[in-house]
Parts: sequence; C-alpha cells; structure tokens
Amino acid sequence: MDTAPEKTDGVVRLRAHRPDDVPEVVAQCQDPEMQRFTAVPAPYTAADAAGFLAAVDAGWRDGWLAAWAVEVEGRFAGTVDLRLQEGDWAEIGYGLAPWARGRGVMARALDLALGWGFGTRGLVGVEWRAYVGNDASRRVAERCGFRVEGTVRGLCVSRGRRVDAWIGTLLSTDPAAVRLADGVAEAAFGLVRGASPEGESQGS
Ligand SMILES: CC(C)(COP(=O)(O)OP(=O)(O)OC[C@H]1O[C@@H](n2cnc3c(N)ncnc32)[C@H](O)[C@@H]1OP(=O)(O)O)[C@@H](O)C(=O)NCCC(=O)NCCS
Repeated sequence: MDTAPEKTDGVVRLRAHRPDDVPEVVAQCQDPEMQRFTAVPAPYTAADAAGFLAAVDAGWRDGWLAAWAVEVEGRFAGTVDLRLQEGDWAEIGYGLAPWARGRGVMARALDLALGWGFGTRGLVGVEWRAYVGNDASRRVAERCGFRVEGTVRGLCVSRGRRVDAWIGTLLSTDPAAVRLADGVAEAAFGLVRGASPEGESQGS
C-alpha cells in the first residue's frame, strides 16, 4: 500500500498526512503531555515534523508503518499509527493536540485504525505500551478493548532513562477486534459482495 486509506465514522476522519500539517504537528508535539508521555524530540521543531512526515511516507511505501492524520472538524488533531512487525503483529501509538482532548476523539481514531489493522491488514495482535501513570492513554486503550496485561519494569526509554510501562494486547480473536475488523464481518454474513474494504469508510 502506498498511502493511508481514508477512514471516517462521521465524527473523526483518518487521512494521509500532508506537508501543510507541519505547523499543527509542531504545535501538538511541543505540548508538555506529548513530551512527557511519548518519545518525540524535545524541543520539537518544524524540521522534526518534516522528518516525521517523510518517515510516514516511507513507512507506508515500505510496509513497516501505517500512520494516519486524525482530523476533527476539518482540522488536523493528531496521529494514530500501527508500527508493523513480523508475524502480523503491530504496536499502536497515538497522540492528540491539547485542544482535541477530553471528548473521546482518540478512541474513535483507534477504532478506525484497528479496523484496518485487523480487517484489511489481517493482523493477529496489536500491542499497546504506555509509561506508568499515563491514565488518559490507558483509558483509551481499555475502551477500545485492550487487555492491560501488567507493568514491565524498565520497558521503555524516556529521554535517555529507562521507565516502567504498562503493556496491553488486543488479539484478532477478541470480541472488540472481531467487531472492529473492517469488511470482514460484512463479508462473512454476505452483506458485501465483491466489494474491497480498501479505502472504504467504516460506518459507525
Ligand atoms: C492519550 C490521549 C491520546 C487521549 O486522547 P483523548 O481523545 O483526549 O481521550 P479521551 O477523551 O477518551 O480521554 C481519556 C481519559 O482521559 C481524561 N482526559 C485526558 N485529557 C483530558 C483533558 N485535556 N481534558 C479532560 N479530560 C481529559 C478523560 O476524562 C478520559 O477519562 P474518562 O474515560 O474516565 O472520562 C491524549 O490525552 C494525548 O494525546 N496525550 C498526550 C500523548 C500521549 O500520552 N499519547 C499516548 C502515549 S501511550
């Protein structure tokens, strides 16, 4: 796949990143919560954002990263990505601009990205990691069906220092994944005939 397929549930839209997202990516990544809970560079510059967008392009082209821009009310609000690994496994990552937080946006974005992952991409499992204490991220993951398996000491590196992290999984056989997988349920019940799920919008 060359680029991100567009997805929407009518409230949140996932689309390919664009060069004109750079200022919004910079604003999002300069936010203290982004700097505290993710590995984005600190300080975060326009060059970092341009490098990120280039990596996203390369990731889609070479098949190791599936990343979408999250759009709300026609405005870039953040990113959700699936870092694709061997054996049809992926690690999910996400971040939202402060103005878009606190109203369930990221859970909707995850549902759409996971729908593609478990449906079109045929993943068998997705892993979620968050530094211990990132309650907002944990709430989102749990709402989307992830089972938090526990805390792993020193699992992640934050600003050159090992930190404890929560880890969770969502498997393709879990009810939430079965429900989300785009195209699969419809095809199984004969509701969609000859239609490719690729590039389709996912209904709510
Ligand atoms: C994690 C993150 C993506 C959550 O996205 P979101 O769309 O704001 O999530 P929600 O609206 O579902 O909120 C999640 C929980 O956090 C709370 N919350 C987080 N930020 C909030 C804010 N600014 N205002 C109000 N509530 C907030 C919500 O009350 C909610 O709890 P609840 O489910 O008990 O009501 C977002 O906070 C973020 O981008 N954080 C910085 C980057 C980050 O941590 N990424 C994840 C790394 S693993």
